[in-house]
Amino acid sequence: MLSLSSRITPENLFYIRNHFPYPNVDIRSWGLCIKGCVHREIYFRYDDLLKMPQVTLAVTLECAGDKRSLFYPKVRGEQWGLGAISHAVWMGVRLVDLLHLAGIQMNVREVTFEGMDKGVRTDMPGIFSYKRSLPLEHALNPDTIIALYMNGKPLPYRHGYPARLIVPGWYGMASVKWLHRITLIQEQFQGPFQVVDYVYNRNLLTSSSSNPVTTIRLNSTIARPLDQEVLAKGENWVSGTALSGEDPVVLVEISTDNGKTWFPTSWLELHEPYSWRRWSWKWHVNDSGTYDIKVRATDAAGNIQGDKADWNVKGYGYNAIQHIRVYVD
Ligand code: MTE
Repeated sequence: MLSLSSRITPENLFYIRNHFPYPNVDIRSWGLCIKGCVHREIYFRYDDLLKMPQVTLAVTLECAGDKRSLFYPKVRGEQWGLGAISHAVWMGVRLVDLLHLAGIQMNVREVTFEGMDKGVRTDMPGIFSYKRSLPLEHALNPDTIIALYMNGKPLPYRHGYPARLIVPGWYGMASVKWLHRITLIQEQFQGPFQVVDYVYNRNLLTSSSSNPVTTIRLNSTIARPLDQEVLAKGENWVSGTALSGEDPVVLVEISTDNGKTWFPTSWLELHEPYSWRRWSWKWHVNDSGTYDIKVRATDAAGNIQGDKADWNVKGYGYNAIQHIRVYVD
C-alpha cells in the first residue's frame, strides 16, 4: 500500500530492501575509504564528514522491483505491489568533493561503492558484499551525494547509517547503504549486483541483450481508492503520485471508463526534480455500477505511459498504466 498523507514518507512506513542481513556498525571504528586510481588514498571518519559542507536534496527512492507482482507472465523475486517507493529529504556531502580531495587519475572509468553488509547468493558460490558502480561522469554529478541525514535526523540504521550513497533519479539499487569503501577503477565493474541483477534481460535463456537498470521510468500510481474498493455515490477523490527519473512529469490523467475518456488531475505540490509529485482528482459519480479506473502520466518530452509493461526476466521497471476496479453502490 502507498501512504501519501504527506509528501515525505514517515520513517516507519519507508520501504526497506536488503539483500543481506544487517551489518554490525560501530561508529567508533567506522570510516569511509577512497582508494584505487586516486592520487592519494583518503580515509574519512564520521566526524570528518559531518564537518564538511553539506547539501540538502529531496529524493524519492523507488526499488527497481516496485510493482513486480503486476508483471504477466509472473517473474521471480520479491512480489512488490505498489509500495516499494518512498520519499525523504537527504542531507550529506557531495561525492564529487570527496573524489576531488582524493584526486582522480587519468583513465578512470567507473567508481564502485561497497556496503558493509555481506552474505551468500543462491545462484553462485562465495560470500559477497553489496557493491555497485557508477560511471565516473555520474559520480561527478553534483547531485550525487553521500547522505548522513534523512529528514533532519542522522540516517536511521535500517536506511544505511552512518552513510549511504544517494543517486537521485536512479532506481534505489544504486543508492548503496552502510557505505564504507569507494574505489575508482579503469574497467567496467562486473560484480553480481551490477551484471547479474539489475539488468533488463528479455530472454530467459540468454543474458546477451541485457541493458543495465539506471534511471526511474515514467510512472504514476493511484493510492486511493484501493483496487476492489466499494464507494458511495456522490463526490469521491482519486489521488496518487507520479514520478520520472528523466524528463519531468507534466500531466497525470484519470479515466473511469477503462481508458476511453481521460481527465486531467490537479497537482498537490510544485515540481521538484527527483521528487514524486502528488495529484488528485474530484470524481462525481451519480450512477451505481462497476468502474474501471486508469491513470497515466505524460512527461515534458511527450512520452506517455503505455498499456503494457516492458516484460523482463527479473521484473524491473514496471511502468504500465495502472488499472483498478471499484464498485459504486
Ligand atoms: N545497499 C546495501 N548496502 N545493501 C542492500 O541490500 N539494497 C539496495 C539499495 N542499497 C541495498 C543497498 C536496493 S535494491 C534498494 S531498492 C535500496 O537500497 C533500498 O533502500 P531503503 O532500504 O533505504 O529503502
